[in-house]
Amino acid sequence: MSGGFEVGVVGAGYVGLATGACLAHVGHRVTCLDRDEERVARLEGGRMPLYEPGLGGLVARGVRGGRLAFAASGDLPEVARKSDVVFIAVDTPQGEDGSADLSNVAEVARGIGRALAQAPLDKAALDEAPLQARPLVVVNKSTVPVGSGDYVSMLVRDGADEVGGGGEEPGFLVVSNPEFLREGSAVYDSLFPDRIVVGTESREALEVLRALYRPIIEQSFPTDLDPRPKVAVPFVTTDLASAEMIKYAANAFLATKISFMNEISNLCELVGADVTEVATGIGLDGRIGARFLNAGIGWGGSCFPKDVSALRAVAREYDYESVLLDATVDVNEKQRKQVISKLQRDLHTLKGKRVALLGLAFKPNTDDLRGAPSLEIARSLDSLGARVVGYDPVAGKAAARRLPTLRVAFDPYEALGGAHAAVVVTEWGEIRSLDLGRAADLMQEPKVLVDGRNALDPEAARAGGLLYRGFGRG
Ligand code: UGA
Repeated sequence: MSGGFEVGVVGAGYVGLATGACLAHVGHRVTCLDRDEERVARLEGGRMPLYEPGLGGLVARGVRGGRLAFAASGDLPEVARKSDVVFIAVDTPQGEDGSADLSNVAEVARGIGRALAQAPLDKAALDEAPLQARPLVVVNKSTVPVGSGDYVSMLVRDGADEVGGGGEEPGFLVVSNPEFLREGSAVYDSLFPDRIVVGTESREALEVLRALYRPIIEQSFPTDLDPRPKVAVPFVTTDLASAEMIKYAANAFLATKISFMNEISNLCELVGADVTEVATGIGLDGRIGARFLNAGIGWGGSCFPKDVSALRAVAREYDYESVLLDATVDVNEKQRKQVISKLQRDLHTLKGKRVALLGLAFKPNTDDLRGAPSLEIARSLDSLGARVVGYDPVAGKAAARRLPTLRVAFDPYEALGGAHAAVVVTEWGEIRSLDLGRAADLMQEPKVLVDGRNALDPEAARAGGLLYRGFGRG
């Protein structure tokens, strides 16, 4: 595979940019397309449209090396014509009924069909470049409900028909290749994944994907991002529908794991046990695993809420009662409300009280506010008459735009000044290493600290002069 593949990636969000930059990094030539021309211009000017550690450096390296370029969606015909593989990596937002809205995916699929019909393949050129994969492999990375692979095929054909494809099959194969990267560690997760899942009915397409991912599967790409696991990455091959279900099942399972721990945490509070000790004790059981056992205000973000909701919508479609998924969501909603009840227990009325929210992004190392508990908590506090001051290392300005009543401070200590209570909403490193004595000195009685992520040491907080309230910590 000398010289690598020609790859098009449609959608320059977290998934598309990380996928594109990483594939360029391992030796392919990638063009990332986006319909947002301002975003494309920013990327071409070397400016990142989102905060993601390590991604800016990788993008710059790819561009410098001539392996990564950006273009507006209008260039899709040209990109589809020259590419071996085109990834669909656009968002599938939550529709009004909770199901995934596939209109962005549909638009891209039709566009690929139109492109293939408008620009029939140059057979002679293909003979000269025998490594070029034909038919075109269309890889769906967007999270779509089971069965969407067939839907994408249908839409590519529809697109071809729109421009008079003449009934001739536009040469393409559809593959599902779900994404498991986490915001905040997107580069690491893309280069060192736990597994790569590929679902397709076509052996030909499967082999193209295996060759495309070979440097990652074999961990053979050059990197200064060590330490890396030295073992081969499992390449899981399956049918289209199962690959699509793997994505939903993974996210729903992780969300359920967290909600399960939150339920245990509520029981711990009642019986006087410490959920962090319980998490250590059960996490050492290889069948359970130590990760995603942190109790607190629950899960948010752009993925878990949307994907659990989409899976519930699928269940409804088949008249199946998704008892466990329903409970997972139920527990999660209750966790956030507990912040308010914990504050009310110590402050009694919240009217006229000043509350500092420490961390606003939905989790550390991202500026993403989608599904962020901070906004929900701030709205509730505001409606109860409290004055809310928030701090976040990167998401402060965006949060203030979303919630005009929220005052935003420049550092955590400014937010804590004169506060009756503080809530750890996002466990950024800087919040974990807060000077608790200084925090207490700045606050006013009763100096309550609600630790929504069980991120701080209760003893140290008490010793510093704070009234510490964790989740499920006795
Ligand atoms: C999640 C999945 O982890 C990725 O594998 C997946 O690719 C991605 O969704 C997606 O579908 O695109 P992400 O939403 O970036 O990734 O964030 P996570 O690190 O999974 O955290 C999700 C939420 O769970 C956060 O609100 C986090 O604070 C919360 N969480 C996580 C807990 O409350 N407790 C834990 O123990 C772990």
